[in-house]
Amino acid sequence: MPESWGEPEWLCASADLRECGDAVMFDVLENGLSVSAFAVRFRSVAVAYLNRCAHLPAQMDWQPGRFWDVEGRYIVCAMHGALYDPPDGRCVLGPCRGAHLTAITLTEKDGQVYWYPSQHLQPVF
Ligand code: FES
Repeated sequence: MPESWGEPEWLCASADLRECGDAVMFDVLENGLSVSAFAVRFRSVAVAYLNRCAHLPAQMDWQPGRFWDVEGRYIVCAMHGALYDPPDGRCVLGPCRGAHLTAITLTEKDGQVYWYPSQHLQPVF
């Protein structure tokens, strides 16, 4: 789990994250710059990452909010096809095999999803 602290930020309702469905997109400040991030649900667990491939600093969705491969097993980068394991964001196949997406810690409580800011990732106000 990545280092995190501070008050959790509301992201969406739990029902907005369907199993292997479209992502909930959001923006965060990374070292003061606004960057794209996304949350998806896989095997009932909500996970979130920066929308930035570990191969090249490109956004990965092949259409806005769409990250899944055809079988709904991996997060795929539309640029060169890297496949990422949803639970930990590790590239299992592709040009950046073994590298990881930048994870954002999530929690779910009372039907709501929250993300945790960290030293490098802060809310956009
Ligand atoms: S930019 Fe994602 S696989 Fe190359």
